[in-house]
Amino acid sequence: MNKAGPIGVFDSGYGGLTVLKALTTHLPQYDYLYLGDNARVPYGTRSFETVYQYTLECVEALFAQGCQLVILACNTASAKALRSIQQNDLPKIAPQRRVLGVIRPTTEEAGLLTQNGHLGVLGTTGTVLSNSYPIEIAKFFPTVKVSQEACPMWVPLVENNEHLGPGADYFLSKHLHALLQQDANIDAVILGCTHYPLLQGRLEALTAGKIKFIAQGTLVAQKLTQYLERHPKMAALCSTNGSRQFYTTDDAQVFEEKARLFYGENIQAQHLDLNTIRFTPDA
Ligand code: DGL
Repeated sequence: MNKAGPIGVFDSGYGGLTVLKALTTHLPQYDYLYLGDNARVPYGTRSFETVYQYTLECVEALFAQGCQLVILACNTASAKALRSIQQNDLPKIAPQRRVLGVIRPTTEEAGLLTQNGHLGVLGTTGTVLSNSYPIEIAKFFPTVKVSQEACPMWVPLVENNEHLGPGADYFLSKHLHALLQQDANIDAVILGCTHYPLLQGRLEALTAGKIKFIAQGTLVAQKLTQYLERHPKMAALCSTNGSRQFYTTDDAQVFEEKARLFYGENIQAQHLDLNTIRFTPDA
């Protein structure tokens, strides 16, 4: 029987901190261990194989730290790596542990977010090309029309703290315009990338408040709450001392400085060298 451990929260960099914030707000009792693969960010422009490989390495690193449940708080990793990890890797290396993503919890609610059935999705190139959102939304809400737009410049704008500057509006407008050209009736837009909640205010201003923009954090937290209620054995494997630990594959000091923007409070981070981590399979 595995020992209870912190809930692992993984992202390619800082973006997943917006999801972690919602998780700690809704489920504060649990221990959380965040891992940002800042040394290899961005994932959004990389191939399926690369995103899968990087994500699996990070999941194994979180398992090695004692996590029994890992949330891929990254849309790109959820779109490109989650299914392979769940179906091919977990049965072999850790049959009792679980890895969950952020796309499914969002798409389960997607049809309830739009009033008129015209929904937009904004995400990285990788997430959009995977078609994960339209495919998943069609399963739950087949009559909802989904249009997507990849916004490759938005993550760098946020990462460089330029997202509220005058230059940012050019790129925000460019992709909003391209999305609305596909479907002018869109009344709700899923922010399908963990960095985009930081752009929400500007996006609302640029569309004069006529479009609802949906950040995922709260949806993911609500769905995780329900998941843990439905799976008491997994809930018992998530330790509850209210602790938060932050790891980055890059420089810890730089991570601490930037993390505040995404997490809203000061944190202490540690460097994690993936080359030194060895996960011994449970099975
Ligand atoms: N966190 C990623 C996502 O949610 C975006 C950042 C990246 O491209 O690595 O899709």
